[in-house]
Amino acid sequence: MSISIVSPRVLRLGGGCVAEIVDLLRQFGLSRPLVVTDPFMVSSGLLRRCLDPLEAAGIHAAVFSDTIPEPTDEVVERGVARLAGQGFDCLIGFGGGSPIDTAKAMAILAAGGGRMRDYKVPVQADLPALPIIAVPTTAGTGTEATRFTVITDTERGEKMLIAGLAALPLAALVDFELTYSVPARTTADTGIDSLTHALEAYVSRRANPYSDAQALAAMRLIGTHLRTAYAEPRNAAAREAMMLGATQAGIAFCNSSVALVHGMSRPIGAHFHVPHGLSNAMLLPAVTRYGLAEALPRYATAARVIGFAGAGDDDEAAGEKLVRGLEALNRDLGVPTPAAFGIAPADWDARMSLMADQALASGSPANNPRVPVKDEIMTLYREVWNSGRNRD
Ligand SMILES: NC(=O)c1ccc[n+]([C@@H]2O[C@H](COP(=O)([O-])OP(=O)(O)OC[C@H]3O[C@@H](n4cnc5c(N)ncnc54)[C@H](O)[C@@H]3O)[C@@H](O)[C@H]2O)c1
Ligand SMILES: [Fe+2]
Repeated sequence: MSISIVSPRVLRLGGGCVAEIVDLLRQFGLSRPLVVTDPFMVSSGLLRRCLDPLEAAGIHAAVFSDTIPEPTDEVVERGVARLAGQGFDCLIGFGGGSPIDTAKAMAILAAGGGRMRDYKVPVQADLPALPIIAVPTTAGTGTEATRFTVITDTERGEKMLIAGLAALPLAALVDFELTYSVPARTTADTGIDSLTHALEAYVSRRANPYSDAQALAAMRLIGTHLRTAYAEPRNAAAREAMMLGATQAGIAFCNSSVALVHGMSRPIGAHFHVPHGLSNAMLLPAVTRYGLAEALPRYATAARVIGFAGAGDDDEAAGEKLVRGLEALNRDLGVPTPAAFGIAPADWDARMSLMADQALASGSPANNPRVPVKDEIMTLYREVWNSGRNRD
């Protein structure tokens, strides 16, 4: 079987590279962008880093700044209404994963019509659509390099995975200087999201030599620099390494897949409004332990590359250190348990069965080294709840 590799046509990386937005648009003959972003990017002034060079070059950019964290189909529909009849020739997604994913979903819905749920996996959203330029401000979801967007179906309370070439950015400007202002909590959550992307891509049943190389590089960078970026927000070396690691982790899972952590994480986000990286973090140690024996050499390599285990540790010891290392990382980065986050035990119990169904339906668990049935997913949800009891 062949390996299919997809990635943006241009990825520009480096401090200050957002200023090259004009060059980038000109390379592709684009001149009528709609910038899709969130209100904080406007109020904090960060968006000026993108708008100023455009204005200086005489390019008028319209702005849609009504995106919300963990975007919904309703927000996407409002964005599509903003697009109509204006002659825009591209979308610039500027912000964390939420604005960029909103831009992707707007492009898909504007091109194909219907409802957002018409495009959820296993449908392939490969239709021709407006090109997307992604400018991430978190490190990060890696969405600047992926063919995915994640949108919540408001009526059904489901966080949908949408996949296809229409969601793959044409180009991305990956400028770590945009991440200096990310608060510590979001630095931790988005950093663990990146680490989860790389680890899941590496142990996935769909891993291949290309995704492996990207995943290993990402795990090394994130393992070395996440704690520093969290503790020292202005540390340029740590921010730069985290940004590169997040993008490489995106490339890795885009060309392999995510797995059980993401499958179980999306329902937690949809039902309890837990930020995406945080729900991953809550699940990561328990889900890693669950799959360990099924792909021990890979998990052990990951532990050594992240820095949790040494060259002298055999696979058994390294696998154990991986789980312990992920638990310690959660403690050091102040990851709350579901209870400490404010979820009521009765609500968790009441939703577990539906969450397990939704996790399975997303297809992600089938990529896990150990593929669970519904009961095992329920057990893992229960375990994640209980594992926090000692810490609360
Ligand atoms: N498409 C994909 O491949 C993919 C992969 C992983 C996650 N996601 C999705 O991405 C979304 C999460 O994105 P995210 O974790 O980047 O968070 P986000 O975009 O929701 O942003 C979180 C918060 O951080 C703020 N923020 C962002 N950048 C900042 C900066 N530079 N300075 C200060 N504050 C800043 C935002 O304003 C917001 O309040 C979720 O919906 C998730 O499902 C998508
Ligand atoms: Fe993710």
